Amino acid sequence: MKKFYLTTPIYYPSDNLHIGHTYTTVAADSLKKFKKLQGYDAFFVTGTDEHGQKIQEKAKENNKSPKAYVDGIVADIKKLWKTLEIDYDEFIRTTDPHHVKAVQDIFTKLYEKGEIYKSKYEGHYCTPCESFWSESQLVDGNCPDCGRPTHLAEEEAYFFRLSKYRDRLLKLYEDNPDFIQPESRKNEMINNFLKEGLGDLCVSRTSFDWGIKVPFDEKHVIYVWIDALSCYITALGYGSEDDSKYRKYWPANVHLVGKEIVRFHTIIWPALLMALDIELPDKVFGHGWILFDDDKMSKSKGNIIYPEPIIELYGIDAFKYFLLREFSFGSDGSFTREKFLQRLNSDLANDLGNLVSRTVTMVEKYNDGIIPQVGIEEEIDDSLKNIGISVADKVEEYIDRLNFSQGLEEIWKLVRRTNKYVDETMPWVLAKEENKARLDTVLYNLSESLRIVSILIKPFMEKTSREIRSQLGLKDEVIWEDAKTWGILKAGGKVEKGDIIFPRLDIKKELVRLDEANQKLIDERANRTKGEKKEVEEIVEEKEELITIDEFDKIKLKTAEIIKCEDHPKADKLLVLTLKLGDETRQVVSGIKKFYKPEDLVGKKVVVVVNLKPVKLRGIESKGMILAAEDSEGKLSLLTTLEDLEDGATIS
Ligand code: MSP
Repeated sequence: MKKFYLTTPIYYPSDNLHIGHTYTTVAADSLKKFKKLQGYDAFFVTGTDEHGQKIQEKAKENNKSPKAYVDGIVADIKKLWKTLEIDYDEFIRTTDPHHVKAVQDIFTKLYEKGEIYKSKYEGHYCTPCESFWSESQLVDGNCPDCGRPTHLAEEEAYFFRLSKYRDRLLKLYEDNPDFIQPESRKNEMINNFLKEGLGDLCVSRTSFDWGIKVPFDEKHVIYVWIDALSCYITALGYGSEDDSKYRKYWPANVHLVGKEIVRFHTIIWPALLMALDIELPDKVFGHGWILFDDDKMSKSKGNIIYPEPIIELYGIDAFKYFLLREFSFGSDGSFTREKFLQRLNSDLANDLGNLVSRTVTMVEKYNDGIIPQVGIEEEIDDSLKNIGISVADKVEEYIDRLNFSQGLEEIWKLVRRTNKYVDETMPWVLAKEENKARLDTVLYNLSESLRIVSILIKPFMEKTSREIRSQLGLKDEVIWEDAKTWGILKAGGKVEKGDIIFPRLDIKKELVRLDEANQKLIDERANRTKGEKKEVEEIVEEKEELITIDEFDKIKLKTAEIIKCEDHPKADKLLVLTLKLGDETRQVVSGIKKFYKPEDLVGKKVVVVVNLKPVKLRGIESKGMILAAEDSEGKLSLLTTLEDLEDGATIS
């Protein structure tokens, strides 16, 4: 069986993922399911990129250790993938011990080969992106990736000899025209980064320590890109005892990435692999961004669209279909609720939903729910059949080029053609005319077309595919090749009408509902963060009153026997006590006259703070303090020990 290895980037676990984040993963998941259906042994890796300064700072803000902080978010990310029925085969975390070890081995190997050397780094540093930039790379003095201000920074660091790979990279692109897709991204890489020459790459940091340590120089942590990119091989067990998956699946057939990280995947990653003498991946596809009303989605702009409310209101399939159909994978696209709802109504309710519903209804009404035998055939049937059996090849062609939108459009051409066939053949007229032989053919062809559609949409809309097949009474396994032949559906099967698969929506009403649901989630998440922050503040405040064990250790406590006690001559509330602590006697003045008579105290054992600075109380020196407890009702008791210890015993 031929293998197909595909990856998404590994995500920063710094916040809740929005619909833009889900784009790469939804696409990769569909591609995996598509390849699997085609008969490939497909392996799909995703994961989380957990190291770096930003995460360390966020964890600190939340008063958590970085690992505890990321653990919580990773759990949320995994939950979202589960909700979206993402079928990954391996979820790699950069904190996984086998990854850490493999990355350290990679770093050492590169160092020993002379591919990494130690020097000093000076540049414009963007803290949020954790990237150093040269003067010429800055845009209006700001970070070229995120547009935020940078500051000049210098540090001792290790460098990877990236410059040495410039020519080999150019040759790689030339010899493998598909290595970077789409084509425009390749030109960007050549013109913006390679043409002018390539500098060496700083691959370690000393300014923070939440990362994988350089094994032979622990002051340094391995900078995030070697750490992160290596995931694509460590996820397969590279560098571990069991590297069978690595040997089976590497090299990757495709790395799917967002456009802003194409540079790392098409320059740094192949160069690292070249330096390690590892085979290169076949392809890196840089998809566009999903914007909101043409603007970048961000928490601060308050324009984040989360996937959860969409899924909850309209289902996973509607969400996935929209993402893949609406936007051209290589380009940016703008999400609007209107567009989403309109497409739901047109493609899913009017086209597909309607076709399923009318087909099953007519088979029930005109043939007792039984798929009929083909009767009289007419020329018009051929045009439906021809489209029907040719769609799968076209879908293959488009999906292989990662053109999900066009691939789905081809399927919908068949859906629309089939709906048109209903209008052309008018089964209700055939029924009225009692033209059973012709009616049977029409009903059969409608059902057969839907059978093909149910196969074609399976990788993209699994639940809908299942639903259609269940309504058609199909129980057998879905086989991709069966979408290329007309007439596989068996006559005599029983259809089973189910719920409407995509009800038509009142867009105005839904706009409000969707907006409210999204806002509700935004508010909930903001409140949760506020709550967590408050909790953290409270803990911090409390913590300020806490002392460390070392601080406590400074206080010296001893047992003492009261050997003499009399009233303070000048104060109503004070007693003057003479204490014996082993060989030492000392005098302590205490404000306990209200509670004890002097004669009652003589002979009692008490607890004394012995290293308090001596003070004079109303003219009489006090050297230390005896301890007492007072309850909420004002009752007071001097402290003593449970056992009768000799005086001068140390308390700790
Ligand atoms: N950790 C790095 C990747 C390291 S890979 C070795 C990273 N993580 S990320 O969480 O910021 O992004 C993960 C993916 O989500 C990227 O492919 C990124 O392009 C994608 N998206 C984030 N926002 C997006 C949109 N608004 N639209 C489409 N995809 C976007 O980068």
